[in-house]
Amino acid sequence: MSGSLLVDNVGELVTNVAGTGDGSPLGLRRDAAVLIEEGRVAWVGPARYAPAAGRRIDAEGGAVLPGFVDSHAHLVFAGDRATEFAARMAGQPYTGGGIRTTVGATRAASDGTLRATVRRLVGEAMRQGTTTIEIKSGYGLTVADEARSLRIAAEVTGETTFLGAHVVPAEYAGRPDDYVGLVCGPMLAAAAPYARWVDVFCERGAFDADHTRAILTVGQAAGLGVRLHANQLGPGPGVRLGVELGAASVDHCTHLSDADVEALAGSQTVATLLPGAEFSTRSPYPDARRLLDAGVTVALATDCNPGSSYTSSMPFCVALAVREMRMTPAEAVWAATAGGARALRRDDVGVLRPGARADLMILDAPSHLHLAYRPGVPLIRQVLHNGVPQCRS
Ligand code: NIG
Ligand code: FE
Repeated sequence: MSGSLLVDNVGELVTNVAGTGDGSPLGLRRDAAVLIEEGRVAWVGPARYAPAAGRRIDAEGGAVLPGFVDSHAHLVFAGDRATEFAARMAGQPYTGGGIRTTVGATRAASDGTLRATVRRLVGEAMRQGTTTIEIKSGYGLTVADEARSLRIAAEVTGETTFLGAHVVPAEYAGRPDDYVGLVCGPMLAAAAPYARWVDVFCERGAFDADHTRAILTVGQAAGLGVRLHANQLGPGPGVRLGVELGAASVDHCTHLSDADVEALAGSQTVATLLPGAEFSTRSPYPDARRLLDAGVTVALATDCNPGSSYTSSMPFCVALAVREMRMTPAEAVWAATAGGARALRRDDVGVLRPGARADLMILDAPSHLHLAYRPGVPLIRQVLHNGVPQCRS
């Protein structure tokens, strides 16, 4: 009992254990408590039956939710592209071409500079409720720079993704086959020890279907799980290819055909939507309603990166998904927690039930609805990661 911690006086508890509590997918319980032991949830139930514990946190009637699972972020980079953002807001389109600007800055940066940025952004995300975050490489694009990006990412998360196929770097201009050979050979070999996943930006102007298939297939053979950027800037083969290869997630999904939706609906592949990118590129949002109504599992993530979506805020993405993508607040909260966990093939996060990681947030608000209802307001009072209080705002 001495090492145990009780979070009680919880006005509304989001468990994400479907069919429990109010019977909804969020498994909502009122007047609840959560007992934590050794970094895990040990017990969940009515506050009046709560076991004794060594320490107590009073949620003061606030809502408690699983920590957000941000399953898509690019945090290893140097510099920013605020000027590019301003030009877009003045009418310039987003093409992904600015990725090369960040590649130049990232290659020139020291390990210490990159590490400081990663840690700053992870801290920023944590203060906004994120307790699991995926981090991609993709701004190094040499063997050494991709490996170091992943090495630095692996210092702060187990969810690391090799994105050597982000764009063809300038020194390989006009020679995409040669660059894909490098990615599939020495770059993958150097990156794989630090990576859990392999990803490709499958898009016109980045990598085509043949290159994408080649890279994902060798990545899989090296023991990495598959995810990909697909159908962000226009229609294309990415989503169906991802489903065919058993990807855990296809991300963006902004331009989908009926066949894409059908393929996703009959699969274990999650559609991860990144509304921060549409916000920051002033583009049409993906049609979340169409995906949900077809039975597709949807996740929400930030896509935090200096070009298309420089936000680390999952609450902001939840609010955008509700207001702009016709998701209900409950669907958006589920997608940002349990959905992100599905996209990372994790069953120990995004859920509050005995045995799960004690990753949770306490809101300065009585219900999860307030995350979308009060956009831009810092509602996250406290975050626990592995049962350890991280911050109090
Ligand atoms: O997910 N789409 C490709 N990659 C990033 C953009 C990166 C950038 O613009 O620097 C994305 O939106
Ligand atoms: Fe991305």
